[in-house]
Amino acid sequence: MKVMLIGSGGREHCIAWKVMQNPEVKELYCVPGNGGMSSLGICYTLNTLQDMVQFAKEKEISLTLIGPEAPLAKGVVDLFKTEGLAIVGPNQNAARLESSKVYAKEFMKKYKIPTAQFEVFNRFDSVISYLKSGLNFPLVIKADGLAAGKGVFIVEDEEEARDVVVDLMVGKIFGDAGNQIIIEECLEGEEATIMFLFDGKSYCVLPSSQDHKRIGDSDVGPNTGGMGAYSPAPLITDQILKKIEISIIHPFIEGIQQEKLDYRGVVYLGLMITHHSEVHVLEFNVRLGDPETQVVLPRLKNDWLDLNMALYRSSLSEVKLEVDTQNLLGVVLTSRGYPGNYEIGKKINGLEDFPNEPQGKVLVFHAGTQRRDNQILTAGGRVLNVCAFGDTLKNAAYNAYLAVGKIGFENIYYRKDIGYRAFRREE
Ligand code: AMP
Ligand code: GLY
Repeated sequence: MKVMLIGSGGREHCIAWKVMQNPEVKELYCVPGNGGMSSLGICYTLNTLQDMVQFAKEKEISLTLIGPEAPLAKGVVDLFKTEGLAIVGPNQNAARLESSKVYAKEFMKKYKIPTAQFEVFNRFDSVISYLKSGLNFPLVIKADGLAAGKGVFIVEDEEEARDVVVDLMVGKIFGDAGNQIIIEECLEGEEATIMFLFDGKSYCVLPSSQDHKRIGDSDVGPNTGGMGAYSPAPLITDQILKKIEISIIHPFIEGIQQEKLDYRGVVYLGLMITHHSEVHVLEFNVRLGDPETQVVLPRLKNDWLDLNMALYRSSLSEVKLEVDTQNLLGVVLTSRGYPGNYEIGKKINGLEDFPNEPQGKVLVFHAGTQRRDNQILTAGGRVLNVCAFGDTLKNAAYNAYLAVGKIGFENIYYRKDIGYRAFRREE
């Protein structure tokens, strides 16, 4: 069997690692891949969706898997299906649940999925008069379209709100993504992630997880793509999970079916759990999360390719998920300066101690790395994910930071407190 995997981050290295545990897989093509993926498969750079279709035909790819949202939003699934090629993911129309926040919010409103109260604007003057209407701050302002995770602003007063609206709608800092904006209620509580597999009819909930979005310890400083994660998230008790299924997943599925959306793939729920244990959806993603995947997939005992085949064939109802009860915690190592400017091309030392055995207690997934002359060099802001298992989350964190200490590159930076919220719950 030949598999193609689109993407180049830590999430994709983890997917590749899991896919290669299936003995049926003879060849894995990573497009474009990274330094870590280059030891599992063959890395290719293909620039357009058409090139990917052509490549899949030439190489007789049995199944294509997608990591990031951009190809889904551009319609890669539609194109592959038209050409009779097997691929897993939502089509372009369904991918609007991530690519348009306005669409997602209206979907949630229509199907009574709990989310923050919101208003949608597509005219600058109407937002400005709304801001003058005696609102309670803080509020959250969101650009409608994809903005690489940077299109959300929490504003404390009218002046700050006005500046953000000017940047989005007049300065067009995210281009057309800011043509429409949402202003919504700022929810308080703790965030968590639930991802589930959905084949159009049945669903299977993956283990819970929690990300750390801010650059600095104790959650200070700018947002990043994610600085670390762990699974399970103790915040998600069985009772809360039941609530998520009843008040979010069931109406979500009803909505997909009513709207006749073509969705077979992973659904990511970015959740806010309030202090009264109410659950709200902050966002949908139409793909696996990064860095959540790196702590969720290794806990799954099921074969990842079999699960994707079940998604493709709509036979998920026959699947039973089996999950390792151990905790898994991952620390993201970044280049200093990230999420702003940073240098690349630094030699990474210490990786030889971590061969990523299928049953390994420590797993190192590459994100922004590049292989050159048998060396692994930094090639991005987020460089590596160092993940370790433990009987408790604290123990997993201890093991992960022990491994982090053995890896080095010039100007390395990482958070020292991954898991801190969960430790309080473990005590
Ligand atoms: P999103 O891309 O919509 O998930 O937003 C990114 C981040 O902004 C979330 O992970 C939250 O930290 C924060 N956020 C988004 N919406 C809200 C909200 N309504 N209330 C509080 N924080 C929010
Ligand atoms: N960890 C957040 C995301 O993947 O969007």
